[in-house]
Amino acid sequence: MYTILFTIAAYLIGSISFAVVASRLFGLADPRTYGSKNPGATNVLRSGSKKAAIATLAGDCAKGWLAVWLAIRFGERFGVEDGGVALVAIAVFLGHLWPVFFRFVGGKGVATALGVLLGLNVWLGLATLVTWLVVAYAFRYSSLAALVAAVFAPFYYGLLFGADEKLVAVIAMSLLLLYRHSSNIGNLMAGKESKIGSKSKGAA
Ligand code: G3P
Repeated sequence: MYTILFTIAAYLIGSISFAVVASRLFGLADPRTYGSKNPGATNVLRSGSKKAAIATLAGDCAKGWLAVWLAIRFGERFGVEDGGVALVAIAVFLGHLWPVFFRFVGGKGVATALGVLLGLNVWLGLATLVTWLVVAYAFRYSSLAALVAAVFAPFYYGLLFGADEKLVAVIAMSLLLLYRHSSNIGNLMAGKESKIGSKSKGAA
C-alpha cells in the first residue's frame, strides 16, 4: 500500500518540469517552442541563459534524487523494500518523460536519471556523471554524452551491487532514455546534431 503511495508521489514529483518553471521565472520563452523543443537543460541553454539552464539541470536532477532519497530514508518504516525503491526510481523518471502537469509532454530524462542514480548511490551517480563529462568534453555533444552515460550506468550498478530489482530500474531508465533520444541519434548519424552551447537546433 505505502509502496503505491511513494510511487505515485514520485511520479508527481517527476512531473514538475523545471525547464518550463525556470524559463518562466527567468522571463524566457517556453523551451517547448524553440530549438529541439525539448524541455531540458540543453535546450534551455539555447535561450542564451546559462543561469536558467543550470536551474533546470539542478531542479530536474534534484527531483530524481529527492524521490529516491525519500523512499530509501522513510520507506523502510512503511514496508517499502528494494523493489519499492526500484518502482519509485522508475516513477519519478516516467513523470519527467510524461508529466501529468504538462499534458504528458516531457523531457528526455538525462538530469532526472542522474538524480535517481545519485539517490540510489552517490558513487553510481558520480561514475555516470564523470562518463557524461568526459564524452561531452571530448565531443561537445550533450546527447552523445547522455547516450554513452546511459549505456554505462547499468554496468556501473552491476559492478557495485550485482543484479537486483534496482538494476532492472536502471536498465529500464537507460532504455527509455535511449528511446527518447531517437531524433538525436538520427541527427548524430547524419552529422546534423548541434554542439553544446550552439543556439541553433535543426531537426528535433
Ligand atoms: O538532455 C537532453 C540532451 O541529451 C539532448 O537535448 O535539446 O539537444 O535534444 P536536445
